[in-house]
Amino acid sequence: METGLLHLHNIMRWVILLLLVIAIVKSFAGMSASKPFTNGDKRIGLFLMISAHITLLVGLYQWLAGRYGILTTSLPPGTSLMKDAFYRFYWVEHPLGMIIAVALITLGRGQSKKNILDVVKHKRSFWFYLIALIVILGTVPWPFRGDVIGRPWFPGVH
Ligand code: HEM
Repeated sequence: METGLLHLHNIMRWVILLLLVIAIVKSFAGMSASKPFTNGDKRIGLFLMISAHITLLVGLYQWLAGRYGILTTSLPPGTSLMKDAFYRFYWVEHPLGMIIAVALITLGRGQSKKNILDVVKHKRSFWFYLIALIVILGTVPWPFRGDVIGRPWFPGVH
């Protein structure tokens, strides 16, 4: 199960990134051309939020009870959390960055339910999603982040 969840967590990053890029392009087009906020826009936001929340839940499980979970592992003797690149990333930077990103996605999606002009919905969701994208790109353990933090592009590929 552990491996399955890790693979799910890995692959969901691509689903989130794809939906985020679509949502950003659509909301940018919507705000620049004053287009109506359609059911299609609503649906993308909803799928994006669901994908982000699934990944968040799996991440929370891994963070607490996974193979490097804070409840199941202890820091190697003599190590201090913020001085150890691995634990600082997986216990602090990655979870914090991603929780902020999921909150931004949720706020972006929430705009569709507000009683505001369509152009304002597009504009606000554009900014929430764009900042979420930047935070995610900055806190994913990309393979080029080095041997300590870096993880594969796709599940199980090394
Ligand atoms: C929602 C956005 C998130 C994305 C896109 C994301 C992405 C990733 C990716 C790509 C990996 C590497 C997977 C692999 O090794 O194959 C990873 C690992 C990990 N993530 Fe996330 N993550 C997210 C949210 C979270 C959150 C909110 C937490 C914790 C609260 C979290 C905790 C972890 C942990 C602990 C690992 C390492 C697991 C292990 O090696 O056993 N993630 N994440």
